[in-house]
Amino acid sequence: LSIIVALLVVAVAGAALVWRPAIAAIDPPAPPSFDPALVRRGGQLAAMGNCASCHTLAPDAPQAVADRAGAAPGGPKAFAGGVPVPTPFGTVYSTNITPDPDTGIGRWSEQAFRRAMRDGVSRDGHHLYPTFPYDHFTHVSDADDRALYAYLMTRAPVRAEPPANRLSFPYDQRPLVAGWKLLFLHPRAVQQEAAQTAAWNRGAYLVEGLAHCGACHTPRNALGAERPQAAFAGGQSGHWQAYALTAQSPAPVPWTQEALAFYLRHGWQADHGVARGPMAEVTANLATVDEADVAAIAAYTAALFGAPDPDRRAAGAAARGQAVPAPSAAAAQTAATLSLVKPASAKDGPGAAIYQAACANCHESARPLPYAGVNLHLSTGLSAPEPRNAALTILQGLAPREGERSPIMPAFAATLSDAQLAALLDYLRSRFSARPPWTDLAGQVAQARAATVQRTASDSSSPPKATAR
Ligand code: HEC
Ligand code: HEC
Ligand code: HEC
Repeated sequence: LSIIVALLVVAVAGAALVWRPAIAAIDPPAPPSFDPALVRRGGQLAAMGNCASCHTLAPDAPQAVADRAGAAPGGPKAFAGGVPVPTPFGTVYSTNITPDPDTGIGRWSEQAFRRAMRDGVSRDGHHLYPTFPYDHFTHVSDADDRALYAYLMTRAPVRAEPPANRLSFPYDQRPLVAGWKLLFLHPRAVQQEAAQTAAWNRGAYLVEGLAHCGACHTPRNALGAERPQAAFAGGQSGHWQAYALTAQSPAPVPWTQEALAFYLRHGWQADHGVARGPMAEVTANLATVDEADVAAIAAYTAALFGAPDPDRRAAGAAARGQAVPAPSAAAAQTAATLSLVKPASAKDGPGAAIYQAACANCHESARPLPYAGVNLHLSTGLSAPEPRNAALTILQGLAPREGERSPIMPAFAATLSDAQLAALLDYLRSRFSARPPWTDLAGQVAQARAATVQRTASDSSSPPKATAR
């Protein structure tokens, strides 16, 4: 009998942990019932939360992905979901968050929306996967959730259902997410520090919450949760490496608050080059929000990096090709190792010839950034622990952004073989970085090639699609 009682207790406790009630459906509220100022504010917050990056299919998404996502003729629509978000456990598709009453969140009350943001629970009570970064959104204030809700409920409703997730057992069992939350979801407000400036505190609220910078920049554990003891120590987004935003930063020139404020708003900075891959989307979004909020994010992020020590500063100045003001002996040594004429074994190999023929024209030109290539001594990608981002940039190039003057670099996927790319990377590392040579270049190049092929599969057969992105 006691065994039966014990089992019952466990079952009841388990059910209490997992079960969440449905929140009653409402009649879709009329868009004019929302205050236009609130809607405008919500639009900025949605940009800061990158909602469209995950909930709107990119206009250049491969046709196969668009087909699977059920994109309507005329192209995918803003916030209609169906975007495949890759995780180590399989693919989760984002849902439709337009106000369509049947397939979107048209019948959600503000309370239901706030519960999704704060607790990761859908209106009908099912647990949502933390691919939707509610471990960060849980910190968003009631007032900001209200503005986000007003913004989403006034978008154009789109009828669209996402494809079924592709997760293997046991990850396809949603109730298990309740256990994950017990361990990793901490729904309390971000701590305000009286000793810090108002900008730092505002930045902490945004970076830890809505802007979810740690979702990419913090490494994750085996259960896919961020490791708090390694916060901002460098993580991953797809195949891209999201560099450390701490003293471990591989950036040749140390980041300053001013440089960060400029980079986050403009997507490039003279000492650091352009933001690429997923970070390009983040900076494109931040270009549209309140300047004061970006400045606050920069203030908080600069504190994460900390003030660089004199040696680090001197090495940065050397990389920039500037005079070093009274360097210490150690700094002079670092500067000497970083200097332009560095003897290296890879220097005369096939990589050097490829660089001279295909790259030097742009990367050693006198044209100003961002239209010319950055002095590669300043490239974080070339001094990073792994060659991922450098390999992806060379294979995929940098496409011009629609409607603006922006940096352009051709894609070399079609012109460089894997062996040539590996030789080129080896050369670039030995010539432009003081760090030790990369290992397993063949394996790294093969992975970058696979990620590139996947991204561009059937691109050529898909006509350009207009969206309201
Ligand atoms: C990193 C990708 C990502 C970002 C960024 C993101 N979402 Fe999502 N979101 C998802 C995924 C994936 C799901 C589906 C989760 C599931 O089915 O368990 C989802 C689900 C949701 C849901 C639940 C919808 C339902 O039908 O249950 C809401 C509401 C939502 N997101 C709103 C937002 C808002 C608002 C933002 C911006 C502040 C945002 N999301 C940003 C990936 C993302
Ligand atoms: C969707 C994933 C993602 C999110 C969210 C994200 N980042 Fe990044 N970030 C990256 C990637 C990937 C890179 C590397 C980009 C590159 O190689 O140019 C990067 C690069 C950076 C860099 C340049 C580092 C260097 O040394 O070159 C800074 C600074 C940065 N991110 C800050 C932030 C801040 C602050 C936020 C939050 C407002 C943020 N990131 C949010 C993925 C992300
Ligand atoms: C048509 C001009 C052009 C050519 C040719 C070109 N690049 Fe670039 N490259 C750019 C521009 C513009 C950028 C973006 C600004 C920046 O960050 O340097 C860039 C960025 C890069 C970066 C990223 C730097 C960073 O911020 O970390 C790397 C690495 C790079 N290029 C390597 C190469 C290599 C290797 C080749 C030859 C195979 C090459 N480029 C050819 C124009 C060019």
